[in-house]
Amino acid sequence: MLYSDKVMDHFEHPRNVGEIAEADGVGQVGNPKCGDIMKMYLKIDGDVITDVKFKTFGCGSAIATSSMATEMIKGKTIAEAMTLTNAAVAEALDGLPAHKMHCSVLAEEAIKAALADYYRRKGEEVPAELRLPCEEEEHCCSACH
Ligand code: FES
Repeated sequence: MLYSDKVMDHFEHPRNVGEIAEADGVGQVGNPKCGDIMKMYLKIDGDVITDVKFKTFGCGSAIATSSMATEMIKGKTIAEAMTLTNAAVAEALDGLPAHKMHCSVLAEEAIKAALADYYRRKGEEVPAELRLPCEEEEHCCSACH
């Protein structure tokens, strides 16, 4: 089986799909090569992520990883969410095929982009670890160049 049961479950029944009208941070990342786009919405109270929703126009692995990533940061602090890596998300899904690992990078980057947006809206400096390669280059995703 190419994909784990967890990947298939999150692909077929993605959690936290949608958008948050009054979001405190919104981040969108995409990949110009495969055309996949992921948008992440965060509701933040104090320093806790109280709600998170996403929309992904993309492959099954991108949908499964965004779904799992939202589950992993919901109810967590900003500091905890910042340390979430695509490798941790893939591991929580019992792994992804090697050639699909790049899809999981979109989830990590979408969360970071949404957190960066949160800081920008507050008029605060964006922490260095939240700056994306797309802010320095014309590519909007570092995953599949
Ligand atoms: Fe582009 Fe999966 S093929 S994110």
